Amino acid sequence: MSGSEGSAFVVVANRLPVDRIVAEDGRTTEWRRSPGGLVTALQPVLQAAEKGTWIGWSGDSSHIDPFTLDDMRLHPIPLDDEELRNYYEGFSNASLWPLYHDAVEQPIFRRRWWTSYERVNARFAERAASVAARGAVVWVQDYQLQLVPAMLRRLRPDVRIGFFLHIPFPPVELFMQLPRRLEILHGLLGADVIGFQQPLGAQNFLRLTRHLLDMKPKGHSVMVDDREVKVESFPISIDTASVEELAASEKVTRRAKEIRAELGDPRNIILGVDRLDYTKGIEHRLKAYRELLSEGRLAVPETVMVQVATPSRERVEHYRTLRSSVEREVGRINGDFGQVGLPAIHYLHQSYDRAELAALYRVADVMVVTPLRDGMNLVAKEYVSSRPDGDGALVLSEFTGAASDLKQAYQVNPHDLDEVKAGLLRAIQAPESDRRKRMRAMRRHLRGHDVKHWARGFLTALGVPETATAYNSGK
Ligand code: ADP
Ligand code: F6P
Repeated sequence: MSGSEGSAFVVVANRLPVDRIVAEDGRTTEWRRSPGGLVTALQPVLQAAEKGTWIGWSGDSSHIDPFTLDDMRLHPIPLDDEELRNYYEGFSNASLWPLYHDAVEQPIFRRRWWTSYERVNARFAERAASVAARGAVVWVQDYQLQLVPAMLRRLRPDVRIGFFLHIPFPPVELFMQLPRRLEILHGLLGADVIGFQQPLGAQNFLRLTRHLLDMKPKGHSVMVDDREVKVESFPISIDTASVEELAASEKVTRRAKEIRAELGDPRNIILGVDRLDYTKGIEHRLKAYRELLSEGRLAVPETVMVQVATPSRERVEHYRTLRSSVEREVGRINGDFGQVGLPAIHYLHQSYDRAELAALYRVADVMVVTPLRDGMNLVAKEYVSSRPDGDGALVLSEFTGAASDLKQAYQVNPHDLDEVKAGLLRAIQAPESDRRKRMRAMRRHLRGHDVKHWARGFLTALGVPETATAYNSGK
């Protein structure tokens, strides 16, 4: 399918917004929301666009025909076992992910992973080429698909190609470690606009073009032959209005009350919500909490912590090690400070629906978000917009993209344990008027800087005419 009957707006991402799950009976299958911030952000964008198509991995190896779900046209791409190991778990999540997150874990490089990364990127590019209408907008997402822009340009020079990186882009010195760095760079430069979460990411990229390719960037762009490539930052956000609406709903209000009662009606509820990922600083925050309990500066049952840790990339070694050490620490905290029926920390290694998360946000007196490095962190933004009561306190790592937006949070350096402890205590002990003032300013910011604002900013830079996607025209 190409030419006139194709799709005018195509999103290409490693995952579809839903995952195919085989039920316990082993026969029936269902579609479940996929994990991560990319899906949270892009789903409302695609739903609002007319004739929008999302190309992504279905979560397994079966070949499934395109189908429509919640106003989105979905094109599943299968990955076989070898590709899952080498493209997804290997090159994407054991090489690129740690390297781009400032090597907070040692990146692993294996030569055999590369062929698979190339092959899967080619499959996504070919599918995008066959789905896109003449002159369509194709928006490629994230580190798993960095070769797609150039591959697609070769197949379909008529389409406008955008690329957005959801994670940080590292400094030149780190990027230079990457085997196949030139191929990655040329792959990205196939786009018309390359978007980053932060100005620093865009600067790192422009420096790299100078260093590796001897290019001469001017302002926010570089020339590739006679084609201009724009390199800019577009901080991603949440669908603020819908998050606010859900949090204020009767169902969530009722559930929030129940949760507080189920937790024993403590004075302070501290909440963490993350994918179980070593970039999120979960171990650091648990240690800070344990030390505060052992120093008697916090006490059970007056204070209780809830840590939600969504299962993630469970076969990758770094993630297995992390799970063991988080679970060991949780056991230690509960063993040392819990009481019968009153744990010091509730650890939930599960996925939840949006309403349950919203209810958790509503009861959290303190939300603690302490990544060692994070492109954005939408959880922090969801928390702020989920407080119709105007109260709450956010402890936020300065190494998240969100720290540039949420300036009034209690910001901490997560590597400095004493600072994390002080930040937690500050948030717990802050006068109500101070908490409310901070939350008010952050909520206001998120109303003006929601995901619609992000999408419009990017698509405008891509030169998409106002009418080309309903989303861009503010439908
Ligand atoms: P990342 O993309 O690295 O996972 P973000 O904080 O940007 O981090 O986005 C995480 C998204 O996943 C948020 O929208 C959050 O609501 C959602 N999420 C986090 N934990 C869970 C969970 N246990 N169940 C369901 N959704 C979750
Ligand atoms: O940008 C963060 C991100 O890697 C997304 O690309 C992805 O959708 C999400 O986190 C979850 O990760 P995964 O798809 O590997 O489960």
